[in-house]
Amino acid sequence: MTHAPKFSPLPNNPPPFAGAPKIRGAKLGLDPRAVKRDFPIFEHNPGLVFLDSAASAQKPAAVIDHVAEFYRSDYANVHRGVYRLSARSSDRYEGARETVRKFLNAASADEIVFVRGATEGINLVAYSWGMAFLQPGDEVLITELEHHANIVPWQLIRERTGLKLIVAPIDASGGIDLAAFEARLSRRTKLVAVTHLANATGAILPVETMARLAHEHGAKILVDGCQAAPRLPVDVRALDCDFYVFSGHKIYGPTGIGVLYAKGEILEAMPPWQGGGDMIEQVTFEKTTFQHPPHRFEAGTPDISGAIGLAFALDYIEALGRGAIFAHEEELTGYGVDTLSRLPGIRLVPAGQRRLGILSIDVPGIHPHDLATVLDQHHVAVRAGHHCAQPLMDKLGLAGTTRASLGIYNDERDIDSLAAALAAAQKLFT
Ligand code: ALA
Repeated sequence: MTHAPKFSPLPNNPPPFAGAPKIRGAKLGLDPRAVKRDFPIFEHNPGLVFLDSAASAQKPAAVIDHVAEFYRSDYANVHRGVYRLSARSSDRYEGARETVRKFLNAASADEIVFVRGATEGINLVAYSWGMAFLQPGDEVLITELEHHANIVPWQLIRERTGLKLIVAPIDASGGIDLAAFEARLSRRTKLVAVTHLANATGAILPVETMARLAHEHGAKILVDGCQAAPRLPVDVRALDCDFYVFSGHKIYGPTGIGVLYAKGEILEAMPPWQGGGDMIEQVTFEKTTFQHPPHRFEAGTPDISGAIGLAFALDYIEALGRGAIFAHEEELTGYGVDTLSRLPGIRLVPAGQRRLGILSIDVPGIHPHDLATVLDQHHVAVRAGHHCAQPLMDKLGLAGTTRASLGIYNDERDIDSLAAALAAAQKLFT
């Protein structure tokens, strides 16, 4: 496999999928009822109250159709063929990278690496940057709000690098204790790795402040944006984060695709983490030289249709308006908090001063799995358990929670259905 030079767009390129369905509600403010009609899953599952977008969001017809159309009309492997179809496919794939760049306001598309998901993005940083630059005694500072994906990779490379994993606690309100976070920063801190929005509780972290504090101590900062990117406008330059990761499937795009953003000079200094085709310049049996980023980190045939589907999902939510999505989620979260707080015997897990898109519920006396099973009988789909945040559950003294998470297709009626189903479950168990 050779790495073909970058192609410039061919004059006979067809415009990107002209048959894409129109996006309802675009630019008019977000109307969740209209948006819902864009998502075929609801047509195929009448009565479904889908409140599990934090685990994985549903896909609009536009994304599904666009991926199918790409396979029908433009598909070939990328960066390898000299024939026009491959050039077109490469253009579409690299165009998707540019869409992600704009979405994050990164300085260059070369700062965007396609990965399988946020988990792979964090592992890439750990095994490439971490293994190259962390020395015994260096500290990686995380928080108690992290998903396992932002805990376990650091533990895995702790064995090899001798790094120390330091944990910043939450305060009584369930938000990050910023003073305690700051007190744990020192010249030994080499990386701060934090979630932007906690998947288990919905707490928003002040990552801009945390980035400033990290940089004042000479540390870099990685932000896990899995839950934030679908809900908040994200500008990596305004946040001044060094690494930002998110997953396609949580942002209304396909599974198996995600993004690692890293500042250009950091990526350039990072060694490859997987070897194979397309990431090399020259291979001999004695020595191999490597591509510049981002291709250095994309060994093998990438998830071409995944990247293209992701780009279309980003276009879709840009068309709805990221400010409008944020306002919608904020309003619906507030409605959820008010509604659930009025239900006797139901406790919302605290999420600090700012909660977005996630309502984590504890009903003392009812196991979350039992509760979620009953909710399902009422067509309400939620996630139950530890949400891949076992240390946080331990801290909160909970075996798990029942988590309702919101998306652009949810409205007040879904919260009302949740509340009614919760009340019915309580009756059943008492
Ligand atoms: N990380 C996903 C969640 O929070 C799977 O449910």
